[in-house]
Amino acid sequence: MSSPKVIRWGILATGVIAVTFTKDLLVDPTTRGVTSIKHTVVAAASSSSVSRAESFLRRVGAPASARAYDSYQDLIADPDVDIIYIATPHSHHYQNAMHCLEAGKNVLCEKPFTVNAEQARLLVNMAKEKGCFLMEALWTRYFPLAAYVREILSSGRLGTLVRVMTDCNIATNPEKSFKDGKHRMVNSELAGGALLDLGVYSLTWPFLALYDTQPRETRKPPKVLAAMTKYPPTFCADETTTMVLTFPRNESAGGDAHAIATTSIRLETSPASDPNPPASVRIQGTLGEIQLFPCAHNPTHSKLVLWDGTVEEKPWPQPGPGKGSGWFNGFGDSINAEGEGQGMFWEADEAGFALCEGRKEGKYLGLEETVLIMEVMDETRRQGELRYPEKIETTKFPVQL
Ligand SMILES: NC(=O)c1ccc[n+]([C@@H]2O[C@H](COP(=O)([O-])OP(=O)(O)OC[C@H]3O[C@@H](n4cnc5c(N)ncnc54)[C@H](OP(=O)(O)O)[C@@H]3O)[C@@H](O)[C@H]2O)c1
Ligand SMILES: *[C@@H]1O[C@H](CO)[C@@H](O)[C@H](O)[C@H]1NC(C)=O
Repeated sequence: MSSPKVIRWGILATGVIAVTFTKDLLVDPTTRGVTSIKHTVVAAASSSSVSRAESFLRRVGAPASARAYDSYQDLIADPDVDIIYIATPHSHHYQNAMHCLEAGKNVLCEKPFTVNAEQARLLVNMAKEKGCFLMEALWTRYFPLAAYVREILSSGRLGTLVRVMTDCNIATNPEKSFKDGKHRMVNSELAGGALLDLGVYSLTWPFLALYDTQPRETRKPPKVLAAMTKYPPTFCADETTTMVLTFPRNESAGGDAHAIATTSIRLETSPASDPNPPASVRIQGTLGEIQLFPCAHNPTHSKLVLWDGTVEEKPWPQPGPGKGSGWFNGFGDSINAEGEGQGMFWEADEAGFALCEGRKEGKYLGLEETVLIMEVMDETRRQGELRYPEKIETTKFPVQL
């Protein structure tokens, strides 16, 4: 067996998700059956200070040789970096990714890809021009669970797909949790609100089920009808947003299919005290449905229920170094059991495979679809009359934010 190809990552920004992602990135890939590649971190950059980048590298367990920078530009200029993971707030993705691509660096950029579709298109063009790999870090698309859902959908076991219902929330008391209005979830300067942060996951499953399953030549963008309620204290981020989507299909394919995609920063799919929480994703066909639990962004349990009485439930554990490893990951304050990963390594593997194979985009969420989903969110914001400050909606580059 040939030795695994090593993918050399640079980490741009050192916030909450950068920590989670990089810890997962450094888990031995053989723990999830991957033997052809390995990941390493060669550098990280913080815009605030070099000591922040240093403590980030220590915290995630990066090799001692990894370099710490106090400027994103220095990271981008590092010749040893194969690919840069961008983990700044959404407002900054366009500027940061454009800097990387302009310098010829491959990019894995956190979701939502950009603030609007036009920014996304320009990044795609720049990646093409420079021959760079570019992918939205929509990690859920790369879960083994998502592969299973795609398999069930294409097997025809659900019959003709008719409707998808998805819900993604963060169940918080925003006036309390984000009191000063500066947090990226409610701050318009950082493209705050439910839609861009969480709604992108509510849109993930309708697209996976009702768009990706149609032949490329005939599939068409969905029509969108949106309702949006703003977060009262700032009135410039959405608190609760609901989208009704119609995916056009011809008569022989079953006619138009529907999706209802909901999101909120205040609500939860059901309260944590609910002993039998409902599914956050339901994909319904004429012969039955598939349900996902507990949440649309990080589902770890599936249930296939068919009208003929079949019920198939499956757990989808997120592997890692395992019990006794003394290793812990999680997101923010919510820490997983010892040795359990957070499921972010699968998207990193996909980026690594693409680099090895010379592919320029992700397999299960291509750039055309990333742009289309940004268009749906643009239209939802247009109907909801939510526009962010010009300096983060702009396609001008470079702009100092
Ligand atoms: N895939 C997932 O599960 C997931 C989960 C959470 C978030 N995300 C996405 O990841 C991105 C970052 O989210 P996060 O929760 O990690 O945010 P965060 O904790 O606020 O971290 C963002 C980091 O970006 C850098 N930054 C640069 N300019 C900034 C500015 N003006 N304001 C604030 N931060 C600035 C800072 O790092 P330096 O000081 O080091 O430069 C900061 O620590 C968002 O786009 C979000 O949608 C994804
Ligand atoms: C209808 O759509 C299906 C799948 O989307 C496609 O395979 C078929 O060719 C289309 N039929 C017509 C008559 O356009």
